[in-house]
Amino acid sequence: MLLAVFTPCMTDCWGNNKASIPVHLDKRAMHPLLSLCVFWLLPLALTLEEDSPLDCVPRRSVPYHRNNAHLFREEGVFNYSTMLLREDLNLLVLGAREAVFALDLKDISKKHASVKWEVTKQQEDECKNKGKDPETECKNYIRVLHKTEDSRMYVCGTNAFDPECDYMSYADGKLTLEKKGEDGKGKCPFDPFQRYASVMSENGLYSATSMNFLGSEPVLMRSAPDSIRTEFKSSWLNEPNFVSMTQMPESVSSEDGDDDKVYVFFSETAVECDCYNKLVVSRVARVCKGDLGGQRTLQKKWTSFLKARMDCPVLESQLPYIIQDMYLWCDPQKDWRDCLFFAVFTPQSDTSDLSAVCAYRVSDISRVFEEGKYKTPVPVETSFVKWVMYSGDVPFPRPGACINNAARKEGINRTLDLPDRTLQFIKDKPLMDQAIQPIEERPLLVRRGATFTRVIVTQAQAADGKKYHVIFVGTEEGTLLKAVNYDQEMFIIEEVQLFHPPEPIKSLKFSEVTGHIYAGSDYGAAQIPLATCNRSFSCMDCVLARDPYCGWDQVDRKCVFLSTSKKKVIQSVEDGDASACPDADPVKPVNRSIWPGRNLKLHCTAPSNLAKTAWERDSSPLTPAARFQFLRDGLLILNASDSDAGRYRCLSVERSKADEHSMAVAEYQVSIGPAGTGDGTLIFPRARVDGPSVAGLQVVVALLVVCLLALLAWNFYKGHLPLPWNCGKKVAQSQETHEQGSEKPLVLETDNGRSSNNHNRGEAAFNAEEEHNDQAVTLPTLKFIDDESDI
Ligand SMILES: *[C@@H]1O[C@H](CO)[C@@H](O)[C@H](O)[C@H]1NC(C)=O
Ligand SMILES: *[C@@H]1O[C@H](CO)[C@@H](O)[C@H](O)[C@H]1NC(C)=O
Ligand SMILES: *[C@@H]1O[C@H](CO)[C@@H](O)[C@H](O)[C@H]1NC(C)=O
Ligand SMILES: *[C@@H]1O[C@H](CO)[C@@H](O)[C@H](O)[C@H]1NC(C)=O
Ligand SMILES: *[C@@H]1O[C@H](CO)[C@@H](O)[C@H](O)[C@H]1NC(C)=O
Repeated sequence: MLLAVFTPCMTDCWGNNKASIPVHLDKRAMHPLLSLCVFWLLPLALTLEEDSPLDCVPRRSVPYHRNNAHLFREEGVFNYSTMLLREDLNLLVLGAREAVFALDLKDISKKHASVKWEVTKQQEDECKNKGKDPETECKNYIRVLHKTEDSRMYVCGTNAFDPECDYMSYADGKLTLEKKGEDGKGKCPFDPFQRYASVMSENGLYSATSMNFLGSEPVLMRSAPDSIRTEFKSSWLNEPNFVSMTQMPESVSSEDGDDDKVYVFFSETAVECDCYNKLVVSRVARVCKGDLGGQRTLQKKWTSFLKARMDCPVLESQLPYIIQDMYLWCDPQKDWRDCLFFAVFTPQSDTSDLSAVCAYRVSDISRVFEEGKYKTPVPVETSFVKWVMYSGDVPFPRPGACINNAARKEGINRTLDLPDRTLQFIKDKPLMDQAIQPIEERPLLVRRGATFTRVIVTQAQAADGKKYHVIFVGTEEGTLLKAVNYDQEMFIIEEVQLFHPPEPIKSLKFSEVTGHIYAGSDYGAAQIPLATCNRSFSCMDCVLARDPYCGWDQVDRKCVFLSTSKKKVIQSVEDGDASACPDADPVKPVNRSIWPGRNLKLHCTAPSNLAKTAWERDSSPLTPAARFQFLRDGLLILNASDSDAGRYRCLSVERSKADEHSMAVAEYQVSIGPAGTGDGTLIFPRARVDGPSVAGLQVVVALLVVCLLALLAWNFYKGHLPLPWNCGKKVAQSQETHEQGSEKPLVLETDNGRSSNNHNRGEAAFNAEEEHNDQAVTLPTLKFIDDESDI
């Protein structure tokens, strides 16, 4: 019987709150056996609260605010996803759909110039006739934007599935397209939804995209002056998704006379694994800049195309993670060999919702290419090929190697001079046997529930003189995470909502000159500083934030950006030790009145997601009880009495490596108001958006309370009369097999229910009485039920 009563109520309540409830909870709530639900909804919510060791919660969540960032968007223009920093011109060049903008690098909300590049009616019609959507696909999406040697810009657009490139210049505050109308095939994708990568080098444009209308002919090519490309073979590129490309000056002070290289990062369907389903793997491939192709074999094709698998081992998953973006970080004082590739990865299937960041040493990658073994295809059955390690002889010059001193000594000065044996080898076996492992063979950062899209890495020198990599990750949800890995401890300093409505971040750039990060999305672009230290108001919060860019200035009593402050600051990034902080300014107490028999809510939110709140009354700790409910955003005192007066203090308690730190965040002087008047209200715990697991728990509790309240209210009024609820009928329909939905008096008499739900029932009983006094909250509940019966 309890079942009959609960199910519809729960279902309706859940249905109403779907948005804030984790999906798995939601599904379980729909389970018909609600007695079970009552049993394990609460434990479930509790276990959700326990952080998985793999996961990392941002310490601070900054909701969207227009002051979070400088924003740019122009009415009617979308897809701001291509960016070029022109620090020399003090510009951010932003490519969107059918338009390019020149924005002030210091404040992108200031537009200096723009130029339209629209498709013609004829192009649009042709595109439409080929079956593409005229409103979305048959537009010109700006994709390639590079600075040229002569300080102009090279720009390509999808141009209604007929890619075209052009030169663009900026002068006298004007952006001008030269209308050269160069063929963009192979330089820019046809399909605006397809990923691509390109880089401009002194000897031409390198691009990785698809060459044909269908998007089925992938290519990595250099267009000029000596045009050269990949072999069209599945062992070279197999349904690839290109994400990033970069160049490396490997000829600089090279002892063996090596060549500069171009690296391309992508994912593709693996050829080498014998699996039943398509398996996607992440790859890095590289070519030599001096490559001119072979004489007979591999004519006008790369002779130096080598690729290897890249792993980012996230413990939870058996399937390889898929690369989404890569950022090259180099120490300007050091050699290219010390450069690092930082890449973001997302899971292969939706069985996992973890995203990760892994870092790779360039030297590790180059070692695999220079010294590693190759994989070779071996036919096993008629049409099946297995890829295994090749252990036979490797010809000289080494297949895939750039022309170096050893080759030159043999009279091989150009790739055109390479012998056929070397060329045939690389044509058949471009895949290395060994996979590339990240530094420490594990991710630097793992986050559950957010889908990483782009990454930028900077280096900050902390007050202790040490340098740390600060990782900025853009997500599908429009947030920018800022994280540091302190000696294998992942720490997300903050998560800032950049776009509203939440829009996936589709590009990220960082300018050393301005020290700002630029993010692009379909709806606009945003610019934010490396740190907004003044989000911390107290020394403790400033130190516990563990942001290497921020420290507490004891003189000004402010959390300041490190380099701008010459003074000594308090900072403890590795341990989060705030013991050096001076006593915080006392919190100003707020006067509140309480009326006996009524409820009172005292607001208090911790400045950090990692902190818990604790309450004190007259300096002695308060423990949660039926009458004192500790909510995420405050304290709820139910059925107040005279003895509840006093001084209430809310503490934010945060554990760091060093110690447990507590800090007063709010204080209330609560006194008794005159009986019978006043504004004491009945407030229900409301779940906050951040901290989904805690929110989940609170929603569960709140819903149980609401459901029971409504139920008991009915009992109270109707004195156990049979209730003509449609709610009940609905159960009867949905639970015919259980035969429990008959319209019987709704009385709570099950021992089961009592033992499992004692606490909530006590509250609900109380609330039902309270409802006499306060209709503001209970009315909507009853009204809601009435609406149900109207159906
Ligand atoms: C362009 O932006 C719109 C939103 O305005 C989005 O729906 C669409 O998917 C975007 N197109 C591409 C190619 O990203
Ligand atoms: C390679 O270059 C060297 C010196 O630059 C030259 O002596 C030699 O003849 C060249 N070999 C070929 C095959 O072109
Ligand atoms: C932080 O400082 C910036 C400028 O330095 C200012 O615009 C912003 O309002 C400040 N924020 C807070 C929370 O004080
Ligand atoms: C709070 O009440 C005290 C007396 O109980 C009074 O002295 C004080 O001024 C009040 N503070 C405010 C902010 O009203
Ligand atoms: C409220 O508190 C008073 C005593 O302080 C008690 O007599 C009364 O039963 C309580 N009401 C409820 C609904 O718990």
